Amino acid sequence: MDQKRKTLYIIYSAVLFLIFAGFLFLAILINSSKPISIEQNNVIEENNPDVDLCVTLPSTKNWMDDGNHANQYDGTVYNNTNHNVVDWAVTIKLPEHSRINDSWNIIYENNADGTTTIRNNPEQGFNDFIAPGEDITFGFILFSYENEEFTSFKIDATPDPRITDYPLFYILCVLFVVFISCASVSVAFSFKEKQFDIKRERDRQIIVQSMKTFSNFIDAKDEYTRGHSLRVAYYTRKIAQKLDFDEDALDNIYYIALLHDVGKIYIPDEILMKPGKLTDDEMNIIKTHTTKGATILKDFSSIPFIMDGAEYHHERFDGTGYPSGLKGEEIPLVARIIGVADAYDAMNSNRCYRPAFPKEKIIEELKKYSGLQFDPDIVKIMLELLQGEAFANIESEINE
Ligand SMILES: [Fe+2]
Repeated sequence: MDQKRKTLYIIYSAVLFLIFAGFLFLAILINSSKPISIEQNNVIEENNPDVDLCVTLPSTKNWMDDGNHANQYDGTVYNNTNHNVVDWAVTIKLPEHSRINDSWNIIYENNADGTTTIRNNPEQGFNDFIAPGEDITFGFILFSYENEEFTSFKIDATPDPRITDYPLFYILCVLFVVFISCASVSVAFSFKEKQFDIKRERDRQIIVQSMKTFSNFIDAKDEYTRGHSLRVAYYTRKIAQKLDFDEDALDNIYYIALLHDVGKIYIPDEILMKPGKLTDDEMNIIKTHTTKGATILKDFSSIPFIMDGAEYHHERFDGTGYPSGLKGEEIPLVARIIGVADAYDAMNSNRCYRPAFPKEKIIEELKKYSGLQFDPDIVKIMLELLQGEAFANIESEINE
């Protein structure tokens, strides 16, 4: 899994965890609400919004009935909390020798301590709950000998909070929807990306295999150089890795090196495979493989510098190479790298006229011609590679 995807998964997991933690917090909050019980010492005429539950119980009418004082009371219970309340009950100390003669919306019961508790009457079709900011009305007619005021009201109720009472709930819902949308897009994108990666890898394989096949054509002209292009490409890539080329640049220089000797297709076999010393004319013909290679590759514009690899890999750092006699950094970097890789493979391979050089001799030659034939910086990297185990798996790696 790449780093970007890993980071995305960590962020998604953290957001999901926070959302669930938020819902859990809400659930705990809802279940931890405590019953409300409020004492009120006198009759008030208006709601007091600073108190969670408030009851008003004014006398709205009074008359004499068969020697008794009859008082009509119209009460209201206000819910000033942010949540529904259920099971509300108002407990009142009625004046002595008084009795409720008639009532509406409520049921009432007389308690052993002389108080009377009024509750919602469900049979009269009223809601059992009072919504936040709402109220519920009730009333009764009290018969008494004297006109007396009520004292000590007690209001009890049970809060019944709903999850939708909390703004956090809506924030969490929005977050959850955003999360689901982002996660869906990510999954779809990741699926597409995977398909794209598979296709890209297949295309890359086609390119690499085509290049290798073509380089085999080149090397097939001379049995002593069989596999030469593959090996030079392998060494070139290893050197470029040490120069911190990125992945695309590494692929490019690998392809460039695979085709560096493509111009040899033009060289007659009898010259290319001549076992003895070449004449000056024959040598001049051999040298044309550089410019001819560049001509063959002139339309290969998708790989930058591919012509440079073919044309300039026989230039020398001191300016005595061919075909253009370029000097030092005038020689394109790809050609300077391929030049060292090419020479190393030539020294490390058997030829019809000599066996492969031992490693010590190769190191000696590289040092001897550093700054003359070769770029000293590239030689330095090549020597580091030779001292390590960089080429230990060449056989298996070039056939991948
Ligand atoms: Fe060459």
